[in-house]
Parts: sequence; structure tokens; C-alpha cells
Amino acid sequence: MRAMICSALGESPRLVDVAEPVPLAGDVVIDIAACGVNFADTLILQGKYQKRADPPFAPGFEVAGVIASVGADVTGFAPGDRVMALPDFGGYADLVCVPAHLVTHLPDSVDFIDAAAFQIAYGTSWIGLKYRAGVQSGEVVLVHGAAGGVGATAVECAKMLGASVIATAGGPEKCALARHYGADFTIDYASENIRDRVLEICAAQGWKRGVDVVYDPVGGDVFAQSLRCVAPGARLLVIGFASGDVPQIPANILLVKNISVLGFYFGAWLDQNPDQAQEAMGGLLAHLAAKDISPVISKIYDLADANAALDALRMRTATGKLVIDCRTGR
Ligand SMILES: NC(=O)c1ccc[n+]([C@@H]2O[C@H](COP(=O)([O-])OP(=O)(O)OC[C@H]3O[C@@H](n4cnc5c(N)ncnc54)[C@H](OP(=O)(O)O)[C@@H]3O)[C@@H](O)[C@H]2O)c1
Repeated sequence: MRAMICSALGESPRLVDVAEPVPLAGDVVIDIAACGVNFADTLILQGKYQKRADPPFAPGFEVAGVIASVGADVTGFAPGDRVMALPDFGGYADLVCVPAHLVTHLPDSVDFIDAAAFQIAYGTSWIGLKYRAGVQSGEVVLVHGAAGGVGATAVECAKMLGASVIATAGGPEKCALARHYGADFTIDYASENIRDRVLEICAAQGWKRGVDVVYDPVGGDVFAQSLRCVAPGARLLVIGFASGDVPQIPANILLVKNISVLGFYFGAWLDQNPDQAQEAMGGLLAHLAAKDISPVISKIYDLADANAALDALRMRTATGKLVIDCRTGR
């Protein structure tokens, strides 16, 4: 089979032929139709992600396709079933072997490209905002990096929860996209001060002294400014560090304002909260099947062009989600 294999950490993956996986007990092998591209793919390739992979390996955390074979002791899945899954890595390939508990049946109404773009972005934003931060209707949510993969879904999910959304992004085009995704107000953090603009917007709207919840996949100075424009009792959701800068948190500000900083890691949360995870992801999938939500996919790449997708994330030229169509070029 074909796979985009990383042979050494720090090197770009290359398309090569490798042996097809054989499922062990409890595993299924998926014939991959599509794989979602995530910023975390760029990190795991450098050995900088919280999950480590030893070369040679193919990146790729979220796939959709058809069951090709099942190992011993697997019940509930059979060859030919349409599924989506969250492998530890290995999605930039024709086939991937995944433990069956990480695989979900796919409704016929959901196509593979949408399914591959759905799980991580929507799962992170929906569970982070609803279950971890407890966003309530009428609250004000500040979403950073709002034109990116998780950011765009955070805008949509916060609106679904009945919140008002102030979104930030770099540049007027990305701000326009954030408004298109549902943001009530946008701040171009390439040219505007986040703290000043948030307080200005809140004052004009008659909202307390700042926002109630911050959703931050960017980190660095964006996080530092956020601490200075939140309302008393606010919750700051740490999602990621796309800026490359992990913020240090001054505890005195948390104390004085009675605010909470909450870490949220989607993959670990699913493992730690299996019952809530089933409820949350099942509910989201029903929304996807009913077309209440639909992933914003800005570009679809062939497997052989996967490095161009990774470069687009690194260079900040991507918007919404990027997806690899693993069926083309076979
Ligand atoms: N906690 C979790 O479970 C979880 C789940 C998924 C993702 N994440 C994390 O969330 C972050 C975003 O992931 P994603 O897949 O949504 O990525 P993405 O699509 O590339 O979006 C990242 C956004 O961050 C902004 N950004 C600011 N500085 C950047 C820089 N130096 N390089 C690249 N982007 C920069 C970009 O928007 P502007 O150009 O508008 O600034 C971009 O749209 C990553 O750190 C990822 O690891 C965490």
C-alpha cells in the first residue's frame, strides 16, 4: 500500500510503498478514503507533540473509509462497513490498523471527506466549550484563531450553545471568514490590540467587564492579552499553541479576578470520560448526519501532495479544514 512515511523526526514524509497492516486481536484495518489534516500532524513529525511516534511512521489522526478486515475478538464491525476512526497516527496512507474501540460507524448521509474533517475539530470545540468550560446561553465567548481548523468550529459551537462570539484572526480576509462562520464581532490581531478591542466591544454592548470564556488554540501573547479582558469568574480554555509559544500564567491575576484556566485535550478526555464521550460525539454525529453542521473544508489534497497541506498550516495560508483524499492516484 502507499503511505506518506516520515523516516526521521524533523524530515518531511515521503510517499512510499509499504507492507499492508494485518489486524491483531481487537483491531480493524480500514481502507482509508480520506484523512483530516491537523496542526498536530506538523508537531508529531518534529517529535514536538504530546503523543510520540517512532519513525518510520505516517502521520494522520483522523480517517474515514471502509472496514477492510477485522481481527479476532472484534464484534460490531465487518468488512465493507462505512466508518470513521481516530488512530494514534497512520492516516496518511491507503490502509490503517486501529483498535476497534476508536472506530465509529458512519451514517450513509455523511460522505467520507466530511467525516474525515469532522471528529477532531468539532469534538474539541463542542466538548471543550460545553463539557469542560460549561458555556451557558447568553455568555460571551472569545475564540482565537477563528479562521483555522478548530477555531472555525469553536465559533459555530459557541453559537449553538447560545453564546455571543468575539472572534480573532490574522488579517481582514480571515476575519471576514470568522464572521461568515457566525462570529458576532471580529478582531484582526495582526493590526489590533485584543484586550483594548474586547473591552471596547463589551462596553458598547453593555456586557460586564469582559468575556466569560476564552477558547485559545494559539497561545503566546494572544493568551496573555486574554487574561486582561475577561470578566470576573471567567474560564480560559487552553486548546493549543499554534503560535509555538506556551504561555506562562501569572497566578496573581487568577486570584484577583477569580478566574479559572482549564486545559483541554480531546483525545485524553475521550479515554477518561467514555460515557460522556459517547453522548457528546453521538449527539454531534447526529447533527452532522442531519446536516445541521457541516465542516468548512477549504482544500482537498491528493495523498502524494500531503506536504503541501502541511506547509499551508505551517505558513498560516490555510483556512477551515484541509483534507487528504486517499482514493485519488491509486
Ligand atoms: N486540545 C486539543 O485536544 C486540540 C485538538 C485539536 C487541535 N489542537 C491544537 O489547536 C491548535 C490549532 O490546531 P488546528 O488543527 O486548528 O490548526 P490550524 O487549522 O492550522 O489553525 C491554527 C490557527 O492558529 C493561528 N496561528 C497563530 N499563530 C500561528 C503560527 N505561528 N503558525 C500557525 N498558525 C498560527 C492561525 O490563524 P491566524 O493566521 O489567523 O493567526 C491558524 O488559523 C494547534 O496547536 C493544535 O495542536 C488541540
